[in-house]
Amino acid sequence: MRDIEFEFDGRSVKAREGQSIAEALLDDGITTFRKTRNGEDRGVFCGMGVCFECRTIIDGKPNTRACMTPATSGCKVKTQEDAHIEAENEQR
Ligand code: FES
Repeated sequence: MRDIEFEFDGRSVKAREGQSIAEALLDDGITTFRKTRNGEDRGVFCGMGVCFECRTIIDGKPNTRACMTPATSGCKVKTQEDAHIEAENEQR
């Protein structure tokens, strides 16, 4: 597999092509991908697409499961803050 890089909250993260974003973040020591509306940290729980704890913002799309999304070169991943997502949804 070829080595690639993507962005997480503005910093570069290395990954192997085809590796999930969650796995690449964990390899880099990053365990928090989301903040609940109460400000609690969330990351990987099941690692297989069931629990939705790893939801994050990937290329501008919120609620994307990092454990089910392959890392691609140059993609932009951001920590999801649920309070902000809920506020935006209420404004629509
Ligand atoms: S860690 Fe459970 S859905 Fe991703």
